[in-house]
Amino acid sequence: MISLIKFLHMLCIFGIIGIVSGRLFLAQRRFAELDHIAGRLDWTLIALLVFGGITGSLMVLPKGYQFTTPWIMAAFIFVGLAIILAAFALKTNKKPSKWLSNIAYGMLLVIIVSIIHDAVTRQTFLPLH
Ligand code: HEM
Repeated sequence: MISLIKFLHMLCIFGIIGIVSGRLFLAQRRFAELDHIAGRLDWTLIALLVFGGITGSLMVLPKGYQFTTPWIMAAFIFVGLAIILAAFALKTNKKPSKWLSNIAYGMLLVIIVSIIHDAVTRQTFLPLH
């Protein structure tokens, strides 16, 4: 069962990476005619972050971690921040504020890389110890 949850967790993560990089790609001016897709991608990202958070939380205790483990706490903080940024990008993805949503996606990329780094190394650079 836990391996199925981890599999679902990984599927979410691949989706998240795909959407964030695809959405940054769309930020280029030559793809302006695809702007209407942006809102759908933002909604999908929020859903995947929530589902990734749920599947991740379901693995914490069975895998022998605690909710007070620093990198797990950091994951919750980062996922919360990522959802706020994705919601902000959703609100600002129309002209003339489109540049704001692109900046939000730049920040999202950094946050996603940080979560993956923390999960793989089981450590966080946030001072949560
Ligand atoms: C609140 C949110 C989250 C929690 C509580 C959480 C928790 C976990 C847990 C318990 C594992 C299993 C580690 C193991 O097998 O020993 C895991 C694996 C992983 N998580 Fe998450 N996760 C969350 C969100 C995310 C997000 C949003 C991402 C990436 C965008 C992510 C990336 C990963 C990766 C790459 C692994 C595999 C690490 C490995 O096995 O080496 N997690 N996560």
